[in-house]
Amino acid sequence: MQIEVISDSEEKTQSIAEKYAKSITSPTVISLVGDLGAGKTTFAKGFAKGMGISDLITSPTFTIMNDYKGTKMNLYHFDMYRLSSKEEAEELGFEEYFDLRTLDGVCLVEWAENVKGLLPALFVEIVFTKLDETKRKIGFSVKGWVK
Ligand SMILES: Nc1ncnc2c1ncn2[C@@H]1O[C@H](COP(=O)(O)OP(=O)(O)OP(=O)(O)O)[C@@H](O)[C@H]1O
Ligand SMILES: [Mg+2]
Repeated sequence: MQIEVISDSEEKTQSIAEKYAKSITSPTVISLVGDLGAGKTTFAKGFAKGMGISDLITSPTFTIMNDYKGTKMNLYHFDMYRLSSKEEAEELGFEEYFDLRTLDGVCLVEWAENVKGLLPALFVEIVFTKLDETKRKIGFSVKGWVK
């Protein structure tokens, strides 16, 4: 099942994310999918607000991961843009964040398609599609694999 919403502004995308974050439980891994500038980091900003995080949320393009302490749980915001395999992410020690038995919070992952196979058996996928300069389609679904 997919749930689709249309956002017509950056603020709207953030408020959708903020509301959604308030319903999230730990542990959860969320993959944010979409082209450059589609709105993934914008969504992460609103999501962090919904978790009670007041820090400035910046894109983790160079650090790969930024972590934050929310009111009830931690947020791990990843940007895998510069990585090219699951092995590379594992070498950096990120594997433990994607094990639902040990994850203590929520992972928001941009460009997870670059590290195929790293995400757990069940995760949420949010797809951002640019409709025009200010309009985005945001599709929520549950994804995963069974071995
Ligand atoms: N409805 C909207 N929702 C989200 N962002 C929007 C919207 N309309 C316009 N924008 C603009 O689109 C850009 C989205 O940038 P953002 O950094 O969130 O993209 P991203 O998907 O994280 O890209 P990247 O892959 O480079 O990390 C911002 O400049 C924002 O102001
Ligand atoms: Mg981004």
